[in-house]
Amino acid sequence: MQYVTLGKTGLNVSSAGLGCGGHSRLGQAYGNSTAQSIAIIHAAMDMGVNFIDTATAYGTEPIVGEAIKGRRDEVIISTKRTIFQQGASPTGNELLTGAEFITGVEDNLKLLGTDHIDILHLHGVFANQYDHCVQELVPALHQLQDQGKIRFLGVTERFIRDTNHTMLSRALEDDVWDVVMTGFNMINPSARHTVLPKTQEKNTGTLIMFAVRRALSDPDATAEIISELISAGLIDPSDLDTENPFSFLLAPNCASTVTEAAYRFCRHEPGAHVVLTGTGSLEHLKENLEVLQMPALPTEAQDKLRNIFGNVDSVSGN
Ligand SMILES: NC(=O)c1ccc[n+]([C@@H]2O[C@H](COP(=O)([O-])OP(=O)(O)OC[C@H]3O[C@@H](n4cnc5c(N)ncnc54)[C@H](OP(=O)(O)O)[C@@H]3O)[C@@H](O)[C@H]2O)c1
Repeated sequence: MQYVTLGKTGLNVSSAGLGCGGHSRLGQAYGNSTAQSIAIIHAAMDMGVNFIDTATAYGTEPIVGEAIKGRRDEVIISTKRTIFQQGASPTGNELLTGAEFITGVEDNLKLLGTDHIDILHLHGVFANQYDHCVQELVPALHQLQDQGKIRFLGVTERFIRDTNHTMLSRALEDDVWDVVMTGFNMINPSARHTVLPKTQEKNTGTLIMFAVRRALSDPDATAEIISELISAGLIDPSDLDTENPFSFLLAPNCASTVTEAAYRFCRHEPGAHVVLTGTGSLEHLKENLEVLQMPALPTEAQDKLRNIFGNVDSVSGN
């Protein structure tokens, strides 16, 4: 496993992180037992992964808590809490007070079975909610930090709706965040122009999500998204084989699968510290951890991807 320094946190983290959310939620989304999900976490740890990302909203914190019993010191725990009132719209302005947020964090600690969280993120923040975060929730996070309950402050964007990184562009003007999580992938690499230059300038720890998602792991989803981008005039159909749009990546000197290419694409992007991989399958986990240690894609493949998708910022690949 390769390790990197997570920006200003100074944490030494594996460049591949285990994502416990997404469409799989460690396989909980499609029927894995708790024991099977724990086995995924243990396999990842045994292969050198020391970065685990979860959230209250995923329902996987208790599984992570169970998996790290007796092994807490081996892992960096990144978890998140949503910022809106229960039952309110995630996009709206019915947001938690600092005191309510602090009370909620006790649940994260309990579910994870730990007395401290390494990185606590405000989960899926929209730009219209950002001022409230700074005014009301950041002081609460500092209070939690002073109490030793959290070590570092993070914020994650809602990439499905905020595909051009409006919230993070704003957040990175401030010196508040130790870590951010951004969507970035072969079909929407726009963080390269917005988020990543700023994180590098500020030495902000940077986590990559949506490396693969559906668009780069399911051929039907790939076909759908490519045709959407062509119809919207965002990519030129003459630049790729519309029947098999990523065939150019599957050359002998390039990648064996689109998924492999997708993870390698993210892994070597300047400014990307940890690439999260989400899976409920031991086989996929092993494959993904292996490909995340492989070299960058050949320059010609990277150039072609830049030429085709370089200006796309309106899809997430969800
Ligand atoms: N706003 C936020 O804060 C936010 C939003 C989204 C995600 N996240 C975090 O980011 C993490 C990563 O996102 P993600 O889970 O969507 O990860 P991802 O790695 O981009 O995509 C995972 C999807 O790809 C499939 N997959 C994985 N490896 C595969 C392989 N080798 N071959 C074929 N299919 C494969 C998985 O299904 P299988 O289970 O079948 O492998 C799953 O459906 C999440 O788990 C979560 O921790 C945060």
